[in-house]
Amino acid sequence: MNRRDLIKKAGLAAGTMVLSNIAAASAKTPEKKKRVLKIVHITDVHIRPEYNAVARFKKCLEIVKKDKPDMILNGGDSIYAADYNDIKKERVVELWRCWNDSVELVKDIPMYSVLGNHDMWWQGKGDELYGKPGVLKMLGLQNNYYSFDKNGWHFIMLDSNHPTSPGMLDDEQWNWFVQDVQKNSQDKPTLIMSHYPLLSCTGITDNKPDFIGPFKVSGSYNHLDIMKFIEVFNKNKNIKVCLSGHIHLLDKVWYNDVSYLCNGATSGFWWEPGDDGKSAYKQTVPGYSILNLYADGSFDNQYIKYEQ
Ligand SMILES: [Fe+2]
Repeated sequence: MNRRDLIKKAGLAAGTMVLSNIAAASAKTPEKKKRVLKIVHITDVHIRPEYNAVARFKKCLEIVKKDKPDMILNGGDSIYAADYNDIKKERVVELWRCWNDSVELVKDIPMYSVLGNHDMWWQGKGDELYGKPGVLKMLGLQNNYYSFDKNGWHFIMLDSNHPTSPGMLDDEQWNWFVQDVQKNSQDKPTLIMSHYPLLSCTGITDNKPDFIGPFKVSGSYNHLDIMKFIEVFNKNKNIKVCLSGHIHLLDKVWYNDVSYLCNGATSGFWWEPGDDGKSAYKQTVPGYSILNLYADGSFDNQYIKYEQ
C-alpha cells in the first residue's frame, strides 16, 4: 500500500467482512487438540526514525516476547520506504539501522521474513543495498522465496513482488511453488505467507467513498494468479491458512476450506496520527497477530492491539 496515495483520499467507513469463524469451525473440543506451535505474525512494520516509531515498535516486541512464541513471521514492508525515486543511500541505511536496533530485542526467537514492495531500494544499482539482494542481505535471507518444516507443519514463504505485475509469482517461482506443495505438503498442514494478499475483501472496502460496482481489484489487493492458487489448493487439502499484509487493514476470508488472513499492520497508519489520532488506518489500529497451530491442522488467531 502506498501511503502517498492514501493521504490524498478521504477515509471510507467500511466494515471488515468476516466470512467465517475459523476457530469455531473445528468440531473437536479444545482439550483434544494438541497445540504444536505458537506464532506471531508482524507485517508492515515500516520502521522509521520519525513519530517515535522505534520506541513504539520496541514496546510491541517486548509484549511479543512475553507471549513466548516459537517463531515470528515478518510479512514485509519492514522499513518505511526505500522504493521511491528520491531515496538516497543514507536514508536506506538509517531505516535498516532502526530495524536492526529494534529486532535485536527478539534475537532469540527465530524470525522468517518475506519481501514487501517498499523494502527494495532501486536507485543504487551496483550498491550492496540495491534491489532484492540488498533486502535479502539486511534480513539475513538466502532467497526471496523458500519453505521449511516445523513441528509437523509446512511453511511456504512467497515473494509477491513480480517485476512487471505486482501481486503475482513469476514462472520460475510458480513452478517451484507447485513442486514444493507436491513434495512437502502431502502429509503436513501448511501455512503460506506473502506480502500482497492472495485473496482479500479489502479491494472492495479500501476504496473511494463513492465507489460502487462493478468492482475491479488490482493485483496488490488480490494476487493476479489467485485462480491458479485455488486450483492447487483444491487438489491439496493440507493448505490451511494464507497470511498477508500490505493493505494495513484487518480482514479474514474463508474460501473453499482455506483461510486467508490479511493481518493489519504493526505500524497502523505508518506510525502517523492516522484516522483516529492513534495511528489507525480506517478501522485498523497498530497490531500483530498470534496464531496457535494444532497437530490436526486447525488453528486459531487473534489480532493484538498493543497500543490500546
Ligand atoms: Fe505497507
